[in-house]
Formats: sequence, structure tokens, C-alpha cells
Amino acid sequence: MTIDRRTFVAATAAGLALSAAPRVAAKAVKAAAAPGPFPANFIWGAATAGHQVEGNNINSDCWLLENLKQTAYSEPSGDAANSFELWRTDLELAKNLGLNAYRFSLEWARIEPEPGQFSIAMLDHYKRMIEGARAVGLRPIVTFNHFTTPIWFAARGGWTNDEAPQLFARFCDKAARHLAGGIDHATTLNEPNLAGLLQFLLPGGLLEADRAMAAAAAAKLGVPVFLAGNAIHHPDPAMVQSNLRAGHTAGKAAIKAVRGDLPVGVSLAMLDDQAGEPGSLRDAMREKFYNAWLRLAQADDFIGVQNYERSIWGKKGKLDPPADARRNIMGAEVYPPSLAGAVRYAYEVAKVPVIVTEHGVGTDDDAIRAWLIPEALTHLKAAMDEGVPVKGYCHWSLIDNFEWGFGYKFHYGLHTLDRQTFVRTPKPSALVYRDYIKSHTAGA
Ligand code: FCB
Repeated sequence: MTIDRRTFVAATAAGLALSAAPRVAAKAVKAAAAPGPFPANFIWGAATAGHQVEGNNINSDCWLLENLKQTAYSEPSGDAANSFELWRTDLELAKNLGLNAYRFSLEWARIEPEPGQFSIAMLDHYKRMIEGARAVGLRPIVTFNHFTTPIWFAARGGWTNDEAPQLFARFCDKAARHLAGGIDHATTLNEPNLAGLLQFLLPGGLLEADRAMAAAAAAKLGVPVFLAGNAIHHPDPAMVQSNLRAGHTAGKAAIKAVRGDLPVGVSLAMLDDQAGEPGSLRDAMREKFYNAWLRLAQADDFIGVQNYERSIWGKKGKLDPPADARRNIMGAEVYPPSLAGAVRYAYEVAKVPVIVTEHGVGTDDDAIRAWLIPEALTHLKAAMDEGVPVKGYCHWSLIDNFEWGFGYKFHYGLHTLDRQTFVRTPKPSALVYRDYIKSHTAGA
């Protein structure tokens, strides 16, 4: 049994627990109309996350779980893409696509491997990355925490610990003091809106595997609770959500105290939720999964939106997509307008500018990615023309990487990764993205 953040979303999409009688949704994909150019200062980026590309992140909760006998991961992350060494190569890849931004994350477990012990050498590493990005014309968009936490943090109950928000704020303070000067945009947390909530929608098997793995980790360390940053099973979902919101607020305050003019936000996982019939669950699902965070984001500088799918809600659950829908590796529909739909809703509630911090598709058929990118961007531009302030777009991901529970089997990259040589090679979709930017940006 493997577990992944995308499994959550896909499980929702498949209506696993809220399943209604299969019906074909009314709306099929409409081709996007030709838009005017994106503004010259639009942020064009690609995204990665530390644990998924760096390799050998041995002080992190994930590493410990991946290497347990009772692991629910399909394989360990190991060397990943060796981006801890090869980050300059990654910057070059982004540059070669004509991008002007790179989104990556700090690994808390490297920077604070023991509670209160901060590594200047590791902070210097990320400083070199930030300065290196700037030196080649890439705006660094830095995620302070992308799921993974230090082993010691998870061993203290992770985000269910009362002290979690302050522990995170202390890390944000130290990291910001060292790094904030060079950062272009910062996000505190990645997709915290899912933590502890998807367990209501998932089948028991997945949850049980995750719970057993966490219990094995707790036993190994001799602690009562081990709760990883990307755990599915949460003993107290309400507590985890409340602590994550407090963590965002305290982390943002810590970053702002160092550099008040640095734009700070949070990235949310958002489907494009649609009402498929009268009395649909759509509004209830939005309330459950996003609204508290979107309201909190009203006080932020921007909202990060991460979209991969749409969801057509009926009265009892998810309705089936059109029979001829193109599908991703999970079997869920690939629907290009979903990005614009999620962005519109995020802005409707948060009322702050939007940055798409992730969007993409897990597929072995790169032709699907090459089709998705221009279509989705053209729909996004249509939303901008309606008045939604979108500042940028980061494609997930720059390279194929460690896709959590699915290991290296799921491919989201614009570049392939050779796991023996670490050579990265552009896929045709990378060139489609490059050419789209060139021909759709004012003054390019
Ligand atoms: C998102 C995660 C990212 C990656 C993509 C496919 O939910 O933020 O790390 O796994 O999905």
C-alpha cells in the first residue's frame, strides 16, 4: 500500500467515501479562446521541494518512515535527484526554459537537525541557492516548509503539539534572518489545508497503513506519538488544523519581523469544485477544505494556489467526468480549465493576489502535459482578463522526482531524471512551456 498527497485528492476525485451513482458530467473541455499577452512582469516558474529532489535528507520524518520495515512508502527517497549537489544544474534548466522564477523549499531537518541547534552551514547552502538563482535572473520563491519536518519535531507529536506553532516560528525567524534578504516571495506551509481532513474521505486501508507506520516509528524512537508533516492519519484533526493556522500566522510574523516588505503567503491544495446538480455538495466541500484558510489569507500578501484537478460534485458525492476525458496516471480527469476555476475561487474568498505555486500532471504520456500547459495558461489568462489578479505561475515540477508514497514511479517533471547519472533531459512539454512563455508575454 502506498500513500501520497495526490492519493488524497484522487481519492476525493474518485468519490471513494462519498460515492454517488456514476453519471456523466454535462460539461466537457472547451478549447480556450486566444488571450492577450501576459504582463511583462508575470512570474514564470517551475517548482520543486527539498525532500523530493535533494536526496539524503536523513534527519527528516519522511526519511525515517521510508526506511522502516513497516513502511507504507513504495521505495525510499535515497539520492533523489541529488539536487543538494546539483542545484546549479537545476537553475540552468529553469533558465534554459526562459523562466524568471524558481520555487524551491528549505529543509527544516537540515537547518535545525536537533531542537534549537541551527546549522549555519546549511543556512549558507540555501543562501547560495537564493543568490545563485538571482545571479541567473530567477526570482527565488521559497517555501519555508514543504511537508517534511525534523525527526525530533515529529517525535514530539508534530503539528498536534501545542508548541508546534512556536517551534515553527522559531525556525522561520532563524531562516529569515539568514535568507530573507534575497527571497522574492515566501510561503510558510505547503497545502496545510489537507492535513487531518482527508482521512474522512479515504478508505480504511490507506489510513490503517499510515497509522501503523507512525506507530512503528513511535515505537522505534520510544515516544508516545510520531506524527510526520505529511501524515494521513491524524489522532486529532481539529487540533492539527488549528495549530497549522497558528503556525502560518506565527511563521509569517517571524519572517515579516525580519523583512516587512517581503511578500508572504501560504500555498493551498485546491480542486476546481463544480456543482454538477442542484443541491450539490460543492459548497460544503469548499467550506470544509478551503474556507478557513482562504479567510486567514485575507491578511496575507498573496495566496498560493496548487491545482491538479476538478471535482464535479453531486448531491451525494463526486460525479464522473465525461467518458472521453484524458486521464492522469491515477485515472483522474485532466481538465485544463481547472486551474483558472481554482484560482477564481481562491481570489473570491481571499481577495488578495494569487500566485499559482503548483500546477501540472502526473503522467507517462508527455503529450498530455504538452496539451495541458498552453490550454490551462490560456484559461488562466482569461480569468486575469476578468479582473483576477494573478501574479505568477509555477509548473510542478522542474524535474521528475520522489513523489512521496509513489516513489519514483510517478512522473510530473518537465525534465526526465536518470537516477544513476542524475542527468536531466527536457521533455517535449518543457519546450512547449518555453515557447508559450516566449510568444505570450508582453515585450518578450
Ligand atoms: C502536491 C505536492 C507536491 C507534489 C505534487 C504532485 O500536492 O505539494 O509536493 O507531490 O502534489
